[in-house]
Amino acid sequence: MVALSRRGFICGGAAVAALATVPAVAATGIKTLANGKTEVNLAANKSLAKVGGVVQLSIKKYGKVAVIRTSKTDNGFAVIRLACPHEGVIVKPDSQGGWNCPPPRGHGSSFALNGTLIGGGEANSSLKPIKFTATSKAVTIA
Ligand code: FES
Repeated sequence: MVALSRRGFICGGAAVAALATVPAVAATGIKTLANGKTEVNLAANKSLAKVGGVVQLSIKKYGKVAVIRTSKTDNGFAVIRLACPHEGVIVKPDSQGGWNCPPPRGHGSSFALNGTLIGGGEANSSLKPIKFTATSKAVTIA
C-alpha cells in the first residue's frame, strides 16, 4: 500500500489520487436477496460510476454503511460501516474527502474515504470493512 497524502486514498495496493469532497448520496435500487444479502444496483446509482463516488444505505445487520467506488475495475469498491469504532457515532463526509466523527456526540476522529483511521479524536481503529462481491451491474453486500 502507498499513502499519497494525509487524505490519500488506498485501495487494493493501487493508490488513487486524493479526491475532492464527494457528496455521499442515499443509495437507490437496493434489493434484499433471498439469501439475506443486499444488492446495490449500479445503474440506479450513477455516483458509483466515478472513482471516489459514494452512496450510503442502511442494512439491518450493519446499520448505516457506505459503498465507495475505489477503481474502475468491476470489483473496485469498498463497503464500510459508518459507525465510529469509538462509541458508534455515525461519521459524516468531511470537507477533505473523507469522514469525520462529528461533535457534540462524536469526538472528532478523522478517516480516509475508504475508512482508514487518520487520527484525532478517540477512535483507535479504522471504520469496519464489510465483505462484498461486485460485478459490472451490482455490488452485493454479504
Ligand atoms: S465516537 Fe467517534 S471519536 Fe468518539
